[in-house]
Amino acid sequence: MDRAVSKALGRVRQVWEYLVLRPKSEDLAWVGMVLTPAERALFEGMSPHDQAHCAKVARKLSAKSPPDWALKAALLHDVGKPRGYGLIWRVLVVLRPDREIPAAPRLAQPWPWALQIYRWHGLYGAEMAREAGVPESGCRIIQEHGNKSLADEVPWLGEFQWADD
Ligand SMILES: [Fe+2]
Ligand SMILES: [Fe+2]
Repeated sequence: MDRAVSKALGRVRQVWEYLVLRPKSEDLAWVGMVLTPAERALFEGMSPHDQAHCAKVARKLSAKSPPDWALKAALLHDVGKPRGYGLIWRVLVVLRPDREIPAAPRLAQPWPWALQIYRWHGLYGAEMAREAGVPESGCRIIQEHGNKSLADEVPWLGEFQWADD
């Protein structure tokens, strides 16, 4: 398939999933067994879509018998996206990303706020996870989860990215 077409279809799928993907009760029960109470509070702070997406990725990764910290990272990889970061923002930032926007200070105006989350949610999420007690190797995966160039360098990042297709 033409690359532009498959990219466009991928975007359509993301929008569709944002609207319909919701965590199943058996996923939530499983998450409760994998995560500590503090980690679970982070998980539950994510939007329903992000909870369902992270659970799906973690389930897929679990087929490779990952260490605990890698599974926790998969369950929390998008925790840097706040609940208010909704569909409109997610569509707009993809159309007009700002690769140069700094991670700090955190900006409060809506558009720069959304651009920062798109660019830096891995870093923000890793900071939240660290505070909740996620092991450092897991925080590293969360921080670099979108960085394909580190797939062979960061332990379990390549496997994570395979699961997060
Ligand atoms: Fe992400
Ligand atoms: Fe993901």
